[in-house]
Amino acid sequence: MAAGPSGKGNDMSIVKINAIVVPPDRQERFEERFRGRGGHVERTPGFEWFELLRPLEGTDQYLVYTRWSSEEAYRAWESSQDFARSHGGGGDDLAPAASDSHHLWSYAVIESTGPHAG
Ligand code: HEM
Repeated sequence: MAAGPSGKGNDMSIVKINAIVVPPDRQERFEERFRGRGGHVERTPGFEWFELLRPLEGTDQYLVYTRWSSEEAYRAWESSQDFARSHGGGGDDLAPAASDSHHLWSYAVIESTGPHAG
């Protein structure tokens, strides 16, 4: 079962979602920053998945979806130099500018599947 959780009864992964409101005039730059992101997270122990989700309808929040093998794995990344490097601002004010309008949500993965999981 190397592919991560599918179906019931596996070790429980956790999901950390960072929900960020980005003003319309900053969205292009925000997405550009992610296109040029460091890519450190995928080499982090316990990391399972990342997606940047652009809002289309029903909300104006971008979601940064991450999935981890455990809370400890997430916390280790969050307090690592890689996290600090990815969130240092990169010479512009994007990260601090958005920081008063972000929320970190935590979830336990209860069930999960994909097209060929069965
Ligand atoms: C003030 C709050 C935050 C803001 C404004 C923010 C914004 C950003 C931006 C602009 C980048 C692109 C990288 C770059 O610019 O060099 C980035 C990277 C990333 N952020 Fe955040 N972030 C915040 C907090 C968080 C939190 C709490 C999480 C946890 C889920 C998270 C998950 C990620 C991930 C996974 C990446 C990619 C890192 C990599 O490629 O190694 N962010 N973030």
